Amino acid sequence: MKRFASALAFFFFCLTFSGYSFAGDKVAGEARYKKSCIACHGPAGKGAASYPKISGREVSYVKSKLETYRKGIKVGPNSSLMIMMAKPLTDEEIANLAAYLKDARYVNN
Ligand code: HEC
Repeated sequence: MKRFASALAFFFFCLTFSGYSFAGDKVAGEARYKKSCIACHGPAGKGAASYPKISGREVSYVKSKLETYRKGIKVGPNSSLMIMMAKPLTDEEIANLAAYLKDARYVNN
């Protein structure tokens, strides 16, 4: 019981000091994805034509890409499209999107 209490205390400690960035909310990420990313990256981030596949990647990969675009830094030939999309994203939205995309799978049925 004592161990459980300290585990719980540690959990709330993390929540308080991490600004929630350690674990994104997949459900919120999916909703955000469908709102403004699906048009280019396709269902579940599977990619389409010149738009890269973005699902199945590490959370840290997607986060750092989105943070880079948000800063306005070009990394590829079509970065300007992504810079425009990433500018309004909050840290929380980026974490949510990355959490969703990590396990997103396109099922063709
Ligand atoms: C207007 C079309 C468009 C929209 C909408 C869009 N993207 Fe992109 N995205 C691109 C293109 C084009 C690239 C490649 C950019 C480059 O050349 O640097 C890209 C690249 C990326 C990458 C990096 C892929 C890699 O492996 O380098 C990520 C991550 C990404 N987009 C996530 C998102 C998310 C999340 C959203 C929604 C907030 C979104 N995109 C909306 C067109 C779009």
